[in-house]
Amino acid sequence: MVTRLAAVALVVAAWTAQPPSAPSLDYEVFKAKVQPIFLAKRPGHARCVSCHSSGTPLRLQPLSAGASTWTEDQSRRNFEAVKRVAQPGNAKSMLLVHPLAEQAGGDFFHNGGKHWESQSDPEWQTLKAWIVGQTRSER
Ligand code: HEC
Repeated sequence: MVTRLAAVALVVAAWTAQPPSAPSLDYEVFKAKVQPIFLAKRPGHARCVSCHSSGTPLRLQPLSAGASTWTEDQSRRNFEAVKRVAQPGNAKSMLLVHPLAEQAGGDFFHNGGKHWESQSDPEWQTLKAWIVGQTRSER
């Protein structure tokens, strides 16, 4: 009986030692800070959305005619699509390493080019902070 109680105590201790919440992706931060990166024009590169709204595995919603950003509904769909390349807490997520120069820690090749030369690039920092959960919206 005593050993059984001890076992229960151990299990409870293991539970309570878990971090309070697992990392997760914040939708509001995605909408406010991440999506503008997909729309931004960088010298020498097409905008992410130009390629990634058709034909590519990462599929963003095409912008509606005349619109300069996505609607709420489109943003939700983008969020779902991007989840596949952004694993909460994982700084090696595809979204981070694919458009990053190889010498800066990126992977070998992205058909759409290397948009960031360094991890200190503010846009890359924004993406990383979102994925590792450093930026969170107020709830
Ligand atoms: C010139 C077109 C083009 C542009 C611009 C472009 N991409 Fe891509 N991207 C592709 C193509 C084509 C692929 C699939 C082949 C590959 O993985 O290289 C791809 C693959 C990816 C993948 C991997 C998707 C998967 O599921 O395997 C990610 C993540 C990605 N791109 C992110 C971005 C981001 C972020 C930007 C903007 C900073 C961007 N891309 C700009 C063409 C582009």
